[in-house]
Amino acid sequence: MTALLDAAERLGRDELEALQLERLRATLRHAYENVGFYRTAFDKAGLRPEDCRTLSDLARFPFTAKADLRDNYPFGMFAVPEDRVRRIHASSGTTGRPTVVGYTQRDLDTWADVVARSIRAAGGRPGHKVHVAYGYGLFTGGLGAHYGAERLGCTVIPASGGMTARQVRLIQDFRPEVIMITPSYMLTLLDEFERQGVDPRTTSLRTGIFGAEPWTEEMRREIEERFAIDAVDIYGLSEVMGPGVAQECVETKDGPHIWEDHFYPEVVDPFTGEVLPDGEKGELVFTSLTKEAMPVIRYRTRDLTRLLPGTARVFRRMEKVTGRSDDLVILRGVNLFPTQIEEIVLRTVGVAPHFQLRLTRQGRLDALTVRAEARAEATGEERTAAAESIAAAVKDGIGVSVGVEIVDPESLERSVGKIRRIVDLRDED
Ligand code: DLL
Repeated sequence: MTALLDAAERLGRDELEALQLERLRATLRHAYENVGFYRTAFDKAGLRPEDCRTLSDLARFPFTAKADLRDNYPFGMFAVPEDRVRRIHASSGTTGRPTVVGYTQRDLDTWADVVARSIRAAGGRPGHKVHVAYGYGLFTGGLGAHYGAERLGCTVIPASGGMTARQVRLIQDFRPEVIMITPSYMLTLLDEFERQGVDPRTTSLRTGIFGAEPWTEEMRREIEERFAIDAVDIYGLSEVMGPGVAQECVETKDGPHIWEDHFYPEVVDPFTGEVLPDGEKGELVFTSLTKEAMPVIRYRTRDLTRLLPGTARVFRRMEKVTGRSDDLVILRGVNLFPTQIEEIVLRTVGVAPHFQLRLTRQGRLDALTVRAEARAEATGEERTAAAESIAAAVKDGIGVSVGVEIVDPESLERSVGKIRRIVDLRDED
């Protein structure tokens, strides 16, 4: 296995930290000298890039938030002249201005390298065929996966998202070993395999690389069993690079290893901003170490996790992200993440792994209804039992009362990419 690792993956921890410090200092200089936003922010804090002498000095530098990227729309965060930017990606911008990110040729090379490393860590090998069902376009998922798979020496099938019946046919005909897809869209494929009368356990697929949205161990088990594949987690965000910031290794399946030679992680208290020691849960913050076009300094991801020691690699791991501060529902004072409901629904007999959370307002109080889909074979009695069991599990496990509706098979909208679990109807009453 070590023969397969690249040079950075074979560094010792001390060597890695020396490399990180050198790259961090260069990044701070690059950002300060070339991006007005960072120059103003550092000046305001009374800091110069040289003030970062150790990795822990980074904690003195100011944070960057999504709003800062929006305020500098479209290219104000770029640190190179526009003609050196080879690619632009952007968030959908359904809620306001999109967030724009840019890459130089060297950034695109780095990105392909980290995604190639990710696919290899997941079990992919040169010569494998990789079916990419992440969306192509401004979203980083499709193209990010694509160039990484090519870099590893794989054959790419650039399926993108959607046209689900065709995806199934392509998998049957082209016989890929690897699929890269959101976990929720994989469940949509599962239905389609069954509709076409194909046993999903008999496909050529061996490895699934799932990310772009939170998913649980219960979901891993469901996907692994139904498809007879290994399911591993890929994490990333466009502001930092795209997919391939961190990747779970197939031999341990114990949370993504952060590719720390390119992305420096911190976990901070989401309220005070104070850096927390490894092992404590808080908000993940990233500083890019090698990016040219758009370096990011202490970017607040809003993803909640904790840093853990490396196992299959020298790099630290992050605990699987199962909550994002944006998805937090506070229901009568109780905190609830959609993934907690996912765990419960996937353990419940008689319901399919499809659910939706509907938030409404009853008087002055918010109410939550879990809509879960019945399995085709479930009887009326089994449906009632499932509803009672979900409500009881939420009450016991999370400590809040919710309504549960078991709806007919195939009645909830299916994901073709990132799923939105929460339907907020509170302003419609
Ligand atoms: O979703 C990049 C990506 C594409 C990652 C394909 C993995 C696979 P954004 O659209 O900028 O980028 O969304 C980033 O998605 O801050 C997390 O909240 C969430 N996310 C991404 N990967 C995971 C994961 C891409 N493995 C945001 N687990 C992040 C949980 C994830 N959440």
